Amino acid sequence: MYYFTYDPWIGRVIFLEDFYVVKSYRGLGIGQELLKKLSQVATSFHCACMQFLVNVRNQKSVDYYVNCGGFDLSSDAGWHLFRLAKDDLSNLAIKESKKFPESCPKDLGQGQV
Ligand SMILES: CC(C)(COP(=O)(O)OP(=O)(O)OC[C@H]1O[C@@H](n2cnc3c(N)ncnc32)[C@H](O)[C@@H]1OP(=O)(O)O)[C@@H](O)C(=O)NCCC(=O)NCCS
Repeated sequence: MYYFTYDPWIGRVIFLEDFYVVKSYRGLGIGQELLKKLSQVATSFHCACMQFLVNVRNQKSVDYYVNCGGFDLSSDAGWHLFRLAKDDLSNLAIKESKKFPESCPKDLGQGQV
């Protein structure tokens, strides 16, 4: 599946999830056809790039994507994916603001940050 995300520096990004060909059908060019179709979708929607997550332990897939021209944003550009888990979000959502000046309008941040 795919969906679109947005990077303020480069624009629309097509994001791939679960790019997968059933084992017995691999090596027949299906992956390449899927990537071609997805690239056509990306181009028609004026995407700046295509992104996806690959576990570094999945060397076969890493090799496949490198073979297709992909590069690793973590090692090549220093980007790492971070997650704030649900509990952390809940804690942050109720955390008392310490340094927020009293003079700031109370509704600042509602859809503006
Ligand atoms: C990666 C995957 C989608 C490739 O699909 P596929 O249908 O087998 O690939 P294709 O038959 O279209 O291969 C296309 C090209 O890539 C090459 N290729 C395939 N696997 C490769 C690999 N592991 N390393 C390097 N090149 C590879 C093929 O040789 C072919 O090149 P060619 O056109 O020059 O001959 C498939 O192997 C797969 O589903 N793997 C598991 C996916 C997975 O782990 N997903 C989760 C992480 S995203």
